[in-house]
Amino acid sequence: MDRPRIGIIVGTTRETRFGMAPAQWLERVASERTDLSAEIVDLRDFPMPFFDEPASNLHTPSRDPAARRWQATIDALDGYVFVVAEYNHSISGVLKNALDYASHEWHRKPAACLGYGSLGAARAVEHLRGIAVELQMAPLRHAVHIIGSDYRQLKRGEATFDQLDHLRSSADAMLDQLAWWATALRTAREQPREAETAA
Ligand SMILES: Cc1cc2nc3c(=O)[nH]c(=O)nc-3n(C[C@H](O)[C@H](O)[C@H](O)COP(=O)(O)O)c2cc1C
Repeated sequence: MDRPRIGIIVGTTRETRFGMAPAQWLERVASERTDLSAEIVDLRDFPMPFFDEPASNLHTPSRDPAARRWQATIDALDGYVFVVAEYNHSISGVLKNALDYASHEWHRKPAACLGYGSLGAARAVEHLRGIAVELQMAPLRHAVHIIGSDYRQLKRGEATFDQLDHLRSSADAMLDQLAWWATALRTAREQPREAETAA
């Protein structure tokens, strides 16, 4: 069986964002593994307007071309790591918008989080887990939180990810779980669906 495909979704787009740095580190960590393949999905590549469709694409195909490309990208993946910043105790607006722009493409797939910020984006990650349940994902307990002085040192270039062994340990534990869930749920998605309840 092919390795499950995991999207590392960079959840911020502003010009001076930090978000790409942990995403690239995680992609490098994941590239050493044989039980999944991981690729960065950058929201900058999907410049979708604030949600402006007649309905969720669960009911009506989206008109916006970037949204349709986004939905196809999400659909092709078997699981996700959301790279989460905390904006006023929740996820960024651009990430919420992107979550809203897809529906069935998220269903029955695992969602892990890498949060960064003074508290490791802990409150934003909790919000995202709630949203993930509504989108019928399986949010994972294991996460990476880049907290406080680690976050500040990385941001200022005073430390590198490779110097922070505890981040590597939590990334490994999270990816272990993600590989298990992505493989299990992909197998389950391939089964006949007669027992399924309506979405
Ligand atoms: C509008 C805004 C709100 C923020 N709110 C919080 C917050 O509630 N908690 C927190 O820890 N950091 C907060 N921050 C700091 C961000 O977490 C930090 O700037 C982070 O680097 C943002 O991610 P980015 O650089 O990828 O955009 C906020 C930043 C912005 C721009």
